[in-house]
Amino acid sequence: MFTSSIGKKYLMALSGLVLIGFVFVHMAGNLQILMGQEKINAYAHALQSLPLPILWGSRLFLLAAVIIHAITAYQLVKENRRARPNQNYIETTKRAGLASLRMGLTGSILLAFIVFHLLHFTIRTIYPEYSEMMTVVGSPDSNEIHDVYSMVLAGFQHTWISVFYIVAMFLLCGHLAHGVSSAFQSLGFRSENWRGKLELTAKAYAWLIFTGFSIVPLLVLAQNWGIITIFDITASTETLASN
Ligand code: HEM
Repeated sequence: MFTSSIGKKYLMALSGLVLIGFVFVHMAGNLQILMGQEKINAYAHALQSLPLPILWGSRLFLLAAVIIHAITAYQLVKENRRARPNQNYIETTKRAGLASLRMGLTGSILLAFIVFHLLHFTIRTIYPEYSEMMTVVGSPDSNEIHDVYSMVLAGFQHTWISVFYIVAMFLLCGHLAHGVSSAFQSLGFRSENWRGKLELTAKAYAWLIFTGFSIVPLLVLAQNWGIITIFDITASTETLASN
């Protein structure tokens, strides 16, 4: 079933729903940075201390969702092109073609963003010194833990990185605004009756995700420009960030 066009649509929608859910949970987790160093560090430490099968099981599940989503999307676009090679003049087909072109483009940029993001904050090869940022703030037992608070603040001290994240979140917003209602349609949940409501909900969800993610780099930029003071940016964070 999963090799047919319908099957691929289901797979693309289901993997999309997994990612739609993930971004919400990740965004809500990240927002704890606004509650201070202790809160976000304790949260990140609790996640990293999950039993290995659960931690790696969820990572692999997420990775599988990204891979399945990207591959089925690519295959469906190719199939659609092959299926209607000379109907491009029909207005609706043209519009659908444009939407899928936009989704393909934003999806590919988001894939590149995810690779950069993992190298930046998880694998930490872009700034290896982030791995040495340790603290007891947020630690459950006074042993040193990774200082995610200072790492994120150091990360966003670079204006180009903050701007890159905000632009990527804007593209994610566009991808979700179309993708959320599309996923429900593929799964058969979009009737003509509440099509409008679903599209509105999808747009609201997309903007919520954009706001929740972008607020962190935006506030760091605002603090650096002297507009507000929210974060505890220590001299050592600044030194690390200027490297
Ligand atoms: C301003 C936006 C974002 C911030 C500040 C942020 C922050 C972080 C941080 C700090 C980590 C590492 C956690 C740790 O070391 O404990 C992380 C991991 C991760 N982020 Fe983000 N993130 C953002 C946006 C996103 C987006 C939009 C996506 C996906 C579309 C994403 C996907 C991931 C993934 C897959 C991981 C790896 C999780 C793991 O280690 O298992 N992030 N993020």
